[in-house]
Parts: sequence; C-alpha cells; structure tokens
Amino acid sequence: MSTIQNAASVAETYELLKNKIGNVVPDAELYYKAEIAYEINRIKKEKNAVILGHNYMEPALFHSIPDYVGDSLGLSRIAAKSTADRIVFCGVRFMAETAKILNPQRMVLLPAKVAGCSLAAAITAEDVRKLKKKYPGVPVVTYINTYADVKAETDVCCTSSNAVDIVRKLESDVVICIPDEFLAKNVAKETGKKVILPSEAADGNELRESMIIWDGKCEVHEKFTVSDIVNARAQFPDVEVLAHPECPPEVVEASDYSGSTTAIVDYVKNSDSEQFLILTECSMSDNIAAENPEKEMLGLCSIRCPHMNEITLEDTLTCLREDKYQIELDEDIRIRAKKSLDRMLEMS
Ligand code: 13P
Ligand code: SF4
Repeated sequence: MSTIQNAASVAETYELLKNKIGNVVPDAELYYKAEIAYEINRIKKEKNAVILGHNYMEPALFHSIPDYVGDSLGLSRIAAKSTADRIVFCGVRFMAETAKILNPQRMVLLPAKVAGCSLAAAITAEDVRKLKKKYPGVPVVTYINTYADVKAETDVCCTSSNAVDIVRKLESDVVICIPDEFLAKNVAKETGKKVILPSEAADGNELRESMIIWDGKCEVHEKFTVSDIVNARAQFPDVEVLAHPECPPEVVEASDYSGSTTAIVDYVKNSDSEQFLILTECSMSDNIAAENPEKEMLGLCSIRCPHMNEITLEDTLTCLREDKYQIELDEDIRIRAKKSLDRMLEMS
C-alpha cells in the first residue's frame, strides 16, 4: 500500500500527491483532490474495501486511492483472490462485471452508473450464438472487453496481454476471435492466420488457418494513425513509439512495440530511451510521466476514453459512502461466463 493511502491528514495527502504528480497536475487542483482522496482512504478502511484502479484512471485518482493498479488481466487476477468485503472498481463496467463473475461473494461496486466501452457495445450474446451456429465446433475466443452474457457464450476469454498466447495454445486451425477487429487482425498477423469477416461467405476449405473476426472497434484507439507516428519521428528522431494492440494494424506495424497497458508501463520503465510516444488513452501517458520524471512523453492528449473518464474521485467517494453502484448478474450467466474466464486464467 502506498504512503499516500496511509497519510494521517489532508495536508499530508496533499504534500505526498504534490511530490508524486506535481509535474502533471496543476497545483490549484491538488489540494481539492487531496481532500477527497484522504476521505476515500479513511472510509475504505472502515468498510474493509479494496480499490482496484485501471491504468487509464486520471493521475490524481490513480496515484492516491487504488490498492492495486494494472491492466485488465492483472486486475482480474487480484479481484478473483480478494477477501475484502467490497471491491471498488475504478475502471469500466466490463471490468467490474469480470470481478463479480470471478468473486461473487464480494460486493462489487462501480463508481459510475454506466461507464461502458465501445467494444463491449459492439456485440451481443445473440450475435455470438449466430456465429456458433454458422461455424459449429469452432472455438470462440472473446476479448475481456465484453459483457457477461457474451462471455457466457464463449469458450475462452483473452486480454490484450495474452490473446496471441491463447490463440496459439488452442492449436485449432480456425478460431472465432471477437469483437475487436483490430486486436484480432494484430493477433492473426502474429499467429499467421488469415482473417475472415462473417459477412464474407466461406466454405470448409477457405476456413483453413483462419480467424473469423467481428467489426467492433475501440473508439479511442481507432483514432491513431500512421501519420501521428511519421510526424513525431520527423520532429523527434529518437522517440520510441508504443502502441496498444487495439490500434489499427498499420499503426501497430509502424510502432516500435505493442503490448497491454501494463506492458507499456513496464517497457518505459525499463527502456534507456528518453522520449516516448504512447498510442493509447492519454491519462496513462500522464501516469507514466509522473512515475518517470526523467523521461519525456510526447502528448497526443486530446485522446481520452469518455467511459474511463466517468470515474472520478468525487463519484468514488459517493460510491463508498452509499455502496453504489452494485454489480448484479444473473447466476446462470455468471456461472457460464466464469468458465471462459477460468480457462483464460489457467491458460495464461
Ligand atoms: P488492457 O487490458 O491492456 O489494460 O486494456 C484494456 C482496455 O480497455 C484498453 O483500451
Ligand atoms: Fe473500451 Fe476503448 Fe475505452 Fe478501452 S479505451 S474502455 S477499449 S472504449
């Protein structure tokens, strides 16, 4: 647990936060945020709650209240093992649902009423049932960025950090990989498979060494272009370009490295380079900049995830005080969804 979480007063919380993120958050905001963070940390202990924070949380929240931070895979593992009375998920709804699927005895709370995701909204359970009917016996690999009813129709889930590994381990000529078109295309490239959209009719022969994909997109990562990289390199020839695998394949191809949010955090920490262009949600660049003051993150900072942005310190305080919003799932769906997550955790 970080020292900020154990601070004895608002003034101490403010000093510690200023020390940590003073280079990325204006001082005028810091005292106000410190007041809320101090109160959250106090109630959290009182109510035996654990707070999980995704890497995309805004810097003041990210550095003050989570007991654990990480990517979807890391936080799922932590949620599965938690013995706290309450798990507060500072992330989006599919992440909080994943925590509830894996650890149903705990009260799982999401600080925002909606906090969706364009990928999770791109496919329904009925879509998956139709795909299974069209391609009987083909294993369904579903990105964790989906809702519980879609996971319930799935053979195995994956995240950005294990998708390639899971597809390889399945040892199946053909897999259905949904719903992120770009992630699937990036995985297909690494595993040597060709991609087929279900709208493109295919007989048994055409399906060999294929990945049947869906046309869902992350509304944040689809905005990055190869020109962003070319322009950055023209001005900063030594910049290292790191792209999340939800970016378009040509962007991943033009980058120096692609990996999950935590893999990108670790990459910057361990690299000798001084300048980085990080092609993912821009709060993460600020969080990395705070942790690595000697390194420079080139900002493309108009690009924020509106869904992650719904999670604020103010709403997290209300969430803890009032135990809202609680994640509730149909038990039959939860049990079936858990099988696909358990299989992922076993395989990765
Ligand atoms: P990670 O699993 O890499 O954290 O990604 C989650 C996500 O939603 C990225 O947009
Ligand atoms: Fe979904 Fe994209 Fe936001 Fe991640 S960044 S939560 S994939 S909309």
